[in-house]
Amino acid sequence: MRILIVNGTVVTAEGSSVADVFVDGETIAAIGRDLAAAGMAAEETIEATGRYVIPGAIDVHTHMELPFGGTFAKDTFETGTRAAAFGGTTTIVDFAVQSRGQSLRAGLDAWHAKAQGNTVIDYGFHMIMSDVNDATLAEMDGLVAEGVPDFKLFTAYPGVFYSDDGAIFRAMQRTRGNGGLIMMHAENGMAIDVVAAEEVAAGHVSPYYHGIARYPIFEGEATNRVIRLAEAAGVPVYIVHLSAREALDAVRSARDRGVRAYAETCPQYLFLSLDDLGNDFEGAKFVCSPPMRTKDHQPELWTGLLRDDLQVVSTDHCPFDFHGQKELGRGDFRKIPNGLPGVEDRLDLMHDGGVVGGRITRERWVEICSTAPARMFGMYPRKGSVSVGADADLVVYDPNRKRTISASTHHMDVDYSCYEGRVVQGAADVVLSRGSVVVRDGAFVGHKGAGRFIKRSPADFAREH
Ligand code: URP
Ligand code: ZN
Ligand code: ZN
Repeated sequence: MRILIVNGTVVTAEGSSVADVFVDGETIAAIGRDLAAAGMAAEETIEATGRYVIPGAIDVHTHMELPFGGTFAKDTFETGTRAAAFGGTTTIVDFAVQSRGQSLRAGLDAWHAKAQGNTVIDYGFHMIMSDVNDATLAEMDGLVAEGVPDFKLFTAYPGVFYSDDGAIFRAMQRTRGNGGLIMMHAENGMAIDVVAAEEVAAGHVSPYYHGIARYPIFEGEATNRVIRLAEAAGVPVYIVHLSAREALDAVRSARDRGVRAYAETCPQYLFLSLDDLGNDFEGAKFVCSPPMRTKDHQPELWTGLLRDDLQVVSTDHCPFDFHGQKELGRGDFRKIPNGLPGVEDRLDLMHDGGVVGGRITRERWVEICSTAPARMFGMYPRKGSVSVGADADLVVYDPNRKRTISASTHHMDVDYSCYEGRVVQGAADVVLSRGSVVVRDGAFVGHKGAGRFIKRSPADFAREH
């Protein structure tokens, strides 16, 4: 199938210009003016005047079907990737999980089994390491070689995913040899558990106290600590879901001293706040870790994105229904499953709050939602670019269309939205995944099983800069 997208404004991380994009099969075959006149005949022409043509967005932090908090994240690889496609995301990188006592292999195989034949867009995996020992350290090399080159470790969640400093340092040392990248959930989980127990003992059991117990300084301390460990090991490090100014300060000062420290934030930390955790048990809808912070952290995160101390915006999509799942924590906020839905709304929220809001350029919007994730996680230029030879993962995006976010219209399999009633400007009209239209004018026209596993290379980006 050949598709010609005409007269759109091609927006990339490098710049914008009006051009046609010719798609032949799964890849971009030509970019230029008047391609039809130049003889490029297509079976389908998409008129994109007044609209952007951008590389499909890439969400490098999702948790489909994650077993967590005594239940499972609700979106499957089918429903979650379908929702992603509606929002203009054409690749996800999900976190496979090594449970305690299990091998990395077993965890990765289980995630392949969940995803294969079920996704509607392309996907890759990172590996959550819960058990660092001689055997799992040795397994890391094999995973890097088979296209799963990143490993998430946690200073949070004692008894579940938590690793101590020695374990983290050993995993970092191993990536020095195999080229992998350590991703860190950086909050001081041990200290948080002390404060959380004190709050519950004082009768403070509502969701709001989830936010109170997880002090920003606990995130700052852990972020600084893991960066220092990475420095000692001589490897880059990537901080996931950074929420607090204290953590951003640690990343910025590391980068100022020439350390290869990288970080992502998420829309919830840019648009939501501790206030959302109030309103009694309704606040459970907003329980995630790190928690939402007071509003004064938000401008600092935007500045971090502007100055490239934060390179990526991902979602940390980890949806639990309010009814029946979040409700597990009625009477004790520590039992509320941690995580929020978001995979569908990231591109529009970032366009509306970032570009329309005058905080970032449209080129930077493309960079943080697509190009930087592709580069950071070994998919560039096949993904994250509009260039000849790249996968034809493309979005025809209307920067003027307004829509209202609501659980009644979203496609994520979850019974609420954190952004219920919010009007956003900008929406994906047509979404192509490797040359096939998967979403057109609000309708899904793709196929379950069309998505492919993307074997990724080690994080060149993190090593080059
Ligand atoms: O609350 C969150 N973030 N849930 C998902 C698991 C994680 O820590 O990323
Ligand atoms: Zn995490
Ligand atoms: Zn996560």
